[in-house]
Amino acid sequence: MIPTLLPTYSRAAFSFEKGEGAWLIEADGRRFLDLGAGIAVNALGHAHPALVKALTDQANALWHTSNLYQIPKQQELADKLTEQTFADTVFFTNSGTEACELAVKMARKYWFDKGQPEKTDIIAFSGSFHGRSSAGIAAAGSEKMTKGFGPLLPGFVHLEFGDHDALTAAISETTGAILIEPVQGEGGIRPVPDQCLKGLRDLCDEHDILLILDEVQCGVARTGKLFAHEWSGITPDIMMVAKGIGGGFPIGAVLATEEAASGMTLGTHGSTYGGNPLGCAVGCAVLDYVTAPGFLDAVNRKAGLMRQKLEGLVAAHPEVFESVRGSGLMLGVKCKKTNTDVVNAGYNQLILTVPAADNVIRLLPPLTIEDDEIALAVDRLDAAATALVAA
Ligand SMILES: Cc1ncc(COP(=O)(O)O)c(C=O)c1O
Repeated sequence: MIPTLLPTYSRAAFSFEKGEGAWLIEADGRRFLDLGAGIAVNALGHAHPALVKALTDQANALWHTSNLYQIPKQQELADKLTEQTFADTVFFTNSGTEACELAVKMARKYWFDKGQPEKTDIIAFSGSFHGRSSAGIAAAGSEKMTKGFGPLLPGFVHLEFGDHDALTAAISETTGAILIEPVQGEGGIRPVPDQCLKGLRDLCDEHDILLILDEVQCGVARTGKLFAHEWSGITPDIMMVAKGIGGGFPIGAVLATEEAASGMTLGTHGSTYGGNPLGCAVGCAVLDYVTAPGFLDAVNRKAGLMRQKLEGLVAAHPEVFESVRGSGLMLGVKCKKTNTDVVNAGYNQLILTVPAADNVIRLLPPLTIEDDEIALAVDRLDAAATALVAA
C-alpha cells in the first residue's frame, strides 16, 4: 500500500522537535549540530528571536489578504531588495522553482515584446538544479529529474558546465537567455570562477542575451556577499532568490532590471500567496539582519575558519576525503568514501550534513554559527571519518 505521504523522499529516521541556533533537538532529546540548515534555508539558524518576533507580530496582526490589495510588508521588502541590489523590480513567489518559472516567462516575454519572438532558447548547464516544476526540470535537463515526465517544456539547450567553447558555439539567433547558478549547490558545490561569470556577462552583452542567475541556494549572504555574483563585479538581468531570504518561512523572489522586466505588464503573472504578509515580514527581518554592519565580515571570517579546519580534516583522513571547495559558508567536501555513508556516519556523531552530486557532502551551516560550534562540527566529522574507516 502506498504510504500516506507520497514516497518521493528517502528520509532519515529523525523527528526534530525543536531548533535553537545551529542545533536541532530530536524527539528523544539528542542534540544535533545542524550543518544543513534545511538546505541553506535557516540563514539565521533556528528560532532566531528577530525572526520569531517578526513572524508572530505579523501573525497577530494579519496573515493574508491577496495581491488584489496593497501589501505594505511586500512593498517594504521589494524596496529593501532593490536598494541593496542591481534590481529595479521584484516579484515574490513561494519557492525557488516558482522563481524559475517566472524567470523563464520573463525572458521569453521580453524578446516577444521586443519583436524577436524567435529568441526563446535558454542555455543551461550540466549539474544545475532549478527546482522540480516543469520549467525547473526542463532547465536542469538531467535524466534523473526528467525521465518519464515528458513532454518537457521545450527551448532549453544543455551544455557541459565549464565548457567555454561549447558555449560560444551554442549561441544562435534563437538564444534568449543564459541561466546559471553562480555556485552550483545540488551539483556538488561547484563555484563558477569570477572570470567566467565576467566572460558570461560579456558574451550576453555582445550577443544580446539575458543573463539569469539562480541564487536560490547561494544568495542571501551565504557566500559572504549579499549575493554571490557580487564577488565577480557583474550584475545579471534577472535573478532567482528563495531559501535564505525567508530564513525558514517559504518565500522566493525574482529580481530584475527595469529593461528585462519590461514585458511583464498588467495581468501577465500572478500568485495567490506570493508576497503574503507573513513571508514578507520575515523576509524584511532577514534582510535587515544580514545587511547590518559587520554581518558579512563575520560570515567571511567564520568561512575562513571553517575552511581551514576542513582542510585539516581532509589532510587527517585522506582515505575518506579528497578536497574542500565552495565559497563562504557554502562549502563542499569531496569524498573518497561514498558521500551518503559519510553523511550517515555523521548522523551517528550527531552532526547533520547534506549529500550532493559528484560525491560531495555539503556544509551549509546557519550564517550565525559560532566559532566553537564550527570547531565542534569539525571534531564530529573527524569522529565520523574515524568510525567509517574502522567499520
Ligand atoms: C539553485 C536552486 N534553484 C532552485 C531550487 C528550487 O527551490 P525550491 O525547492 O524552493 O523550489 C533550489 C532548491 O534546492 C536550488 O538549490
